Amino acid sequence: MNIVTTTTELRRQLAPMRGHERIAFVPTMGCLHEGHLSLIRKAKKMADIVVVSIYVNPLQFGPNEDFNAYPRSFEQDCELCEKEGVEVIFHPENLYPADGIKVSLKVDELDSLLCGTSRPGHFDGVVTVVNLLFNIVRPDIAVFGEKDYQQLTIINRMASDLHMNVEIISAPTLREPDGLAMSSRNRYLSEDERNRASHLHETLQSMKVLFEQGEVDAGRLISLGRAKLSDAGIKPEYLEIRDAQNLKPVEQLGDSPARIFIAAKIGNTRLIDNIALERAIHRSSASIAETML
Ligand code: PAF
Repeated sequence: MNIVTTTTELRRQLAPMRGHERIAFVPTMGCLHEGHLSLIRKAKKMADIVVVSIYVNPLQFGPNEDFNAYPRSFEQDCELCEKEGVEVIFHPENLYPADGIKVSLKVDELDSLLCGTSRPGHFDGVVTVVNLLFNIVRPDIAVFGEKDYQQLTIINRMASDLHMNVEIISAPTLREPDGLAMSSRNRYLSEDERNRASHLHETLQSMKVLFEQGEVDAGRLISLGRAKLSDAGIKPEYLEIRDAQNLKPVEQLGDSPARIFIAAKIGNTRLIDNIALERAIHRSSASIAETML
């Protein structure tokens, strides 16, 4: 496995492979966990060469966010990548000009909902760095997790709107045994917070069960979900049901694929999760509400 820190060196190493070998790219901010490893494994299955980038992108952090405190564990990340058979780690010190980036990408509409509401500029920072990394790596495919579903949706739109020559592959969220979505930020949680955090997935899961039992009124499902969170002492930043394709709000479920999205602060740690609503078998709303109580 090669560890490369400059754009020139990365381009030099990948040049002889282009056209002969399929290159898969897994962009990360490091602090790798099983969730990242599942993306790498998917990439390995679909390509000959896997490039993993490890770069904590300052552009996607707001002024009051955790850029400096963001967990970094480069040595351990390298060991994990080596074990997974990654060919190249790209670990640049800085990707932007010394006088700051003057030309960048801008997301419209898709960034003014869900996480975009409380993180202005975040998705502009994400698409700018992902585009920049795509330009350097020029992968055939790039793998992103469904855990950051809004990010995945925006990157899919970026690739199609800007006619990028890369196939975006999605991979399902990996979860701890109690359902908590794996995230680098989980390590911030105290034992008590960690226990409380499991209610996020538990709530999504019970909302999904009610949907499967026939509840098709999104507003009613959300009210029931909010009540469950409140019992666990959690006030969500948002709990919403949106179209899985375009992230538009959904009122009546069942016509097209939808997802439930949640963000909540547990202590000082902001966690996000989402779950697909896939199929409905009809039952009366009254008996469903009883199941929830
Ligand atoms: O999902 C992440 O870890 C980051 O947003 C990404 C895609 C690596 C861009 O910095």
